[in-house]
Amino acid sequence: MQKPKFYVTTPIYYPSDKLHIGHAYTTVVADALARWHKFLGKEVRFLTGSDEHGQKIQRIAEERGVSPQEYVDRIVATFKDLWRRLNIEYDDFVRTTEPRHERAVQEVFRRIYEKGDIYKSTYKGWYCTPCETFWLESKLVDSNCPDCGRPVELVEEESYFFKLSKYADRLLKHIEDHPEFIQPESRRNEMVSFIKSGLDDLCVSRTTFDWGIPVPIAEGHVIYVWFDALTNYLTGVGFPDNQESLAKWWPADVHLMAKEILRFHAVIWPIILMALDLPLPKIIFGHGWLLFDSDKMSKSKGNVVDPIALIEEFGVDPIRYFLLREISFGQDGNFNRQALIERTNADLANDLGNLLNRSLAMLEKYHGGIIPAPIQPEQVDHNLVMFAEDTVGKFRELIDKLAINDALAALWQLVRRGNKYIDETAPWALAKDPEQKGRLDTVMYNVFELLRILALLLKAFIPETSARIWQQLGIDEPLDELLIDAVEWAGLRPGTITHKGDPIFPRIHTKVEVKTAAAAVSAKEPQIKVKAAETGTSGDDKTGGDNLIDISEFARLDLVVARVVSAEEHPNADKLLKLQVDAGDGQRQIVAGIAQHYQPEELIGKNIIIVVNLKPAKLRGEISEGMLLAATSSDGTLELVSVSSRIAPGSRVK
Ligand code: ME8
Repeated sequence: MQKPKFYVTTPIYYPSDKLHIGHAYTTVVADALARWHKFLGKEVRFLTGSDEHGQKIQRIAEERGVSPQEYVDRIVATFKDLWRRLNIEYDDFVRTTEPRHERAVQEVFRRIYEKGDIYKSTYKGWYCTPCETFWLESKLVDSNCPDCGRPVELVEEESYFFKLSKYADRLLKHIEDHPEFIQPESRRNEMVSFIKSGLDDLCVSRTTFDWGIPVPIAEGHVIYVWFDALTNYLTGVGFPDNQESLAKWWPADVHLMAKEILRFHAVIWPIILMALDLPLPKIIFGHGWLLFDSDKMSKSKGNVVDPIALIEEFGVDPIRYFLLREISFGQDGNFNRQALIERTNADLANDLGNLLNRSLAMLEKYHGGIIPAPIQPEQVDHNLVMFAEDTVGKFRELIDKLAINDALAALWQLVRRGNKYIDETAPWALAKDPEQKGRLDTVMYNVFELLRILALLLKAFIPETSARIWQQLGIDEPLDELLIDAVEWAGLRPGTITHKGDPIFPRIHTKVEVKTAAAAVSAKEPQIKVKAAETGTSGDDKTGGDNLIDISEFARLDLVVARVVSAEEHPNADKLLKLQVDAGDGQRQIVAGIAQHYQPEELIGKNIIIVVNLKPAKLRGEISEGMLLAATSSDGTLELVSVSSRIAPGSRVK
């Protein structure tokens, strides 16, 4: 049986300059969709490329004193380098200066001309070179381009025109009959109004410069750059010569782009296809803009974000994850460093990284790193399995609707559920009781089965991370080859030998993060009360009398939130545990007398409160740089003072 196919495209970007995070956004989404559909078992084609012709590129090359071809060759190399670093697995990259594309564009032009839908006349009107768009005088805003606000130029030249107006009604009918054709819905409505306001025939050739594909039927004309560029979606599937490929892949399943060029894709492109008697793409999705600190990114404002610098600083998956998770697909969204750091720390380091780390640490301790068989299930396990199965269903549905950020949000509910399951089942307590071995085995199996499923579901979105999790899980089957049917509970083979490695996402420390986190804590100040210190004050009321201190004495204590990164028994003392904690400024070691109250693995990931400005001391040969706070009740029960994971390490406690 023939596999179903999925054909997805990005815009072909202008090689007028290096790409920024906005271009990376569309391309990461396309890559994630392509990988996801492969995972669903489809044959996938993912096309991207570069839009190299036109007046804009010709002028920039002239300014730099090089030929347009030399100029674009240099810039296109930077595109490909960026895609490699972002793990973008495209199947084809169309450069509009390639002979195969020239052949396709001339053929499109010739066919439409022969059909009588292209005719010669004279164009007199305005042109915006940065947008490569023709404008009627009546559409200008303050004499400038209504799209980008920049000055336009008066153009008067003999041109070929394409009869857009002839197809307007057919296009409106198609939009009405196929509600999913233009997305999101709000933008479909804009497109409908635009078409209803009347389409002018489109000028599709230029004579005042020559950096373009020659019109095949007349000397001295080059084809209008948008007519040239849109055709790339056909070039990439073999038009006009490879009929087999064309029949297999066309029409495209999803064309992705941002809203400013939706009009070209949702009006001009479908009409070109109608004139060619080719079917229309299934979905044209115009997503929102990535803003930088709420402002549109642009070179002239000097606020473009360079994705390469970010990848070098944070790694590729934090960037991919942020773009896919943080921005509501379809809406404008903000990009800023602080949000990137917070998202990485909360979701990747804390939720996902922690789930993996603590599970591997426990498995190593209780089972020598080998996955046990789940022999004694209980209701709590069943609940976890149900939650996981529901989440998988929801995840698939949301990705189908292109609600990628919502899908990832749903999946993170499951990641958090996994951490909660560990807290609820307390494997450290089960490990103390030999009679509970069956329960311990079952819990450990379930935790690892959940991690296996998460790695599978995430491989389209953060592929490098999935591969690292897979490697640590020690599963033999190649991750690349597994499809969605592997996401079935109980696929993990007992006996699998795990490989505990470095944490997949160390927390990112920055001064900015600490500052903001501290501000977040002070807003919550009234709820946070540090009641008793580790030395063992009971809950007795000690207020009043000689115990009163003034605020300046209290202020000398530097209390902060610290996350336990690892914990182990002290080599020379039964009652002590040795903790490595992250107090927002890097790691430090704390030795604490809590071994009778906590198993080391129980502490990993906990957000405790410590005094950081205590003089370092050696306890039985181990340095301790701080003291943690705990409350002890009169029966000797001790509990560490802690806050939830929403509060970042380094946050002040006042
Ligand atoms: O328009 N936010 O190329 P282009 C989100 N060559 N997406 C952004 C973005 C931002 N701030 N900035 C850019 C062209 N993009 C034509 C396309 S297609 C036949 C021809 C992304 O280099 C987004 O996909 O100006 C947007 O539509 C595209 O880059 C524009 O790229």
